[in-house]
Amino acid sequence: MSSLLIVGGGKMGGALLGGLLRSGWAGTGDLTVVEPVAERRDELESEYPGLRTVTAPEPGLLDDAGERIAGAVLAGKPDAAEGACRALGVTGVTRLLSIVAGVSAPRLEAALGGEPAVVRAMPNTPALVGAGVTAISGGSFATSHDLAWAQDVLSAVGTVVRLPEHLLNAVTGLSGSGPAYFFLVAEALMEAGVQMGLTRDVSRTLVVETMLGSAALLKETGSDPEALRAMVTSPAGTTAAGIRTLEARAVRSAFMEAVAAATERSRNLQR
Ligand SMILES: NC(=O)c1ccc[n+]([C@@H]2O[C@H](COP(=O)([O-])OP(=O)(O)OC[C@H]3O[C@@H](n4cnc5c(N)ncnc54)[C@H](OP(=O)(O)O)[C@@H]3O)[C@@H](O)[C@H]2O)c1
Repeated sequence: MSSLLIVGGGKMGGALLGGLLRSGWAGTGDLTVVEPVAERRDELESEYPGLRTVTAPEPGLLDDAGERIAGAVLAGKPDAAEGACRALGVTGVTRLLSIVAGVSAPRLEAALGGEPAVVRAMPNTPALVGAGVTAISGGSFATSHDLAWAQDVLSAVGTVVRLPEHLLNAVTGLSGSGPAYFFLVAEALMEAGVQMGLTRDVSRTLVVETMLGSAALLKETGSDPEALRAMVTSPAGTTAAGIRTLEARAVRSAFMEAVAAATERSRNLQR
């Protein structure tokens, strides 16, 4: 067990909290949440009895075993990130895992002061159901132990990959925004099913299960998507007719441009 301070008890902070407790990484006595909104603190305390919540970082925070809390996760809003790091000074935290989008490791390090171990991460919303994918990268003072710690924490809500920090904008454009791309595809396919005479409920079930099943096939077989697509595309068959229509509408190139645009936007928002 390790103790951890979670700064920001919103959607992502709350998801991480739930994941760490469910996976047995920590007990409620090992986790402290910094959350400025009283209503949200009450919600978290009633959902997780025994959880400690505070309105702001306090000096010398201890866990249930009386140990000093050395690690923190920053899960607040980007605008508040550097202020939150400065406020963390009083706690004596020496390790920080930030999931805040667009705030670089050097800026977090400068706000924390000294030579803090900072690991930046870009998660995505399926973390809310324990099926996220997160890329992490270490700042100037982060050791392999700090990266292993961050990977361990984030594994509670899904898969973790390690990358250099300059690639985090590409990760934001691909998997950070990715759920929204798949939701758009799901919306369109559900509507298409209704157009073809299926009820909305049936169409939703067919689309959701097809998405889940296709992802499971990709993951479990390790095959290339092209090979799996060829499996269902017989010459002059129904799938071939559908795919030809999608290719004629340049769907492939639309996705490439979407990821490029989202990556560029992430770069521009970087501070
Ligand atoms: N959602 C995603 O898909 C996603 C993906 C990757 C990265 N992220 C990053 O994850 C972070 C959290 O996102 P979210 O979707 O969980 O947002 P959220 O639900 O709005 O949560 C942010 C939480 O942090 C609190 N907070 C704000 N300033 C604080 C401070 N100074 N000290 C302590 N807590 C503070 C907020 O309280 P208030 O309500 O008072 O502001 C709120 O409870 C963001 O930085 C975002 O860029 C999100």
